[in-house]
Amino acid sequence: MTEPLTEKLQHLRTEAKHALDKAADQDSLEPWRVKYLGRKGQLARLIKDISQLDAPARKSAGQLANTIKQELTQAFTARAAVFRDHHSAPATALSGASLPPASSVGHLHPITLSIRRIQHIFARMGFIVAEGPLVEDPAYNFDLLNIPLHHPARAETDTFHTASGSVLRTHTSPVQLRAVLAMNLTPPFSVISPGRVFRSESTDASHEHTFHQLEAFMVGERVTVADFKGVVKKYFSDFFEQNVTTRLRPSYFPFVEPGFEVDMSCIICQQAGCSVCGRTGWLEMMGAGMVHPNVLKNMNIDHTRWQGFAFGGGIDRLAMLRHHIDDVRLFMSGRLDFLNQFS
Ligand code: PHE
Repeated sequence: MTEPLTEKLQHLRTEAKHALDKAADQDSLEPWRVKYLGRKGQLARLIKDISQLDAPARKSAGQLANTIKQELTQAFTARAAVFRDHHSAPATALSGASLPPASSVGHLHPITLSIRRIQHIFARMGFIVAEGPLVEDPAYNFDLLNIPLHHPARAETDTFHTASGSVLRTHTSPVQLRAVLAMNLTPPFSVISPGRVFRSESTDASHEHTFHQLEAFMVGERVTVADFKGVVKKYFSDFFEQNVTTRLRPSYFPFVEPGFEVDMSCIICQQAGCSVCGRTGWLEMMGAGMVHPNVLKNMNIDHTRWQGFAFGGGIDRLAMLRHHIDDVRLFMSGRLDFLNQFS
């Protein structure tokens, strides 16, 4: 019983936002409000059904309904403001007889939009942005990151190799070294590096050979896991526009010590349990840890004085969660019916 109802709520959220985005003028706003937020509207009807759930399910569904109500009300107010501003603009601004038809104007790819959103979030926290090459020297992709020769990630089968001995980078972690060495950075510093990465594996709805990661790292005299937790919470909460919690699980990556996997509370069901989080309430989001002393040494940083965290996680997954996209392959498909939804 809970599940269909939380799913219905999620559906309503997506549909209502979509319909609001499509609203062409001020006059279409009131029917929208009545349909979704009105006293006898769709949300009100679902809220009525909540009372029939058992207590724990009632609580989480109730919270979800409240969040959705707030979101939709805010979105409505924002949209109304846009139309108001337009209205009061001088008439000449609208008389663009010679302007090309709007349909010929292109728009940004959803992944680019997500990257920009992420950059804004991190810029506010004082991070700078660095980019690295997509065709990488194995020394940067592996060796200088403390990844030994026998590590499974180096297997021929997992990595694309070029005839001349380079690799298509398998993660954004080499940019840690590149940024520090190329820009001559000295601690303290905070850097993010978004970009494309490649893995030679078979594709399915949640795996793609070409995808995108966000790397972030911060080094200073007293940078700890607590700083990491604060930054990640801010990152996800701002990206998804809701308050999330995170949890760390011990894990191993050769370039950090200690290392962990980071989970985020499920933003789809608010931890009530749904198909997206496999009914666990948690979503696996990224790998992270404290930068390994060997990696600091390879950046010419004195590891007895400086320390810091690093994390790397998928951007495609973030965009999928945010926009309720269920197949990662759509991003690279070039399908305009998919892409034009983001115009
Ligand atoms: N580079 C790792 C990966 O691609 C993620 C990671 C980045 C883990 C930084 C720890 C620290 O899986």
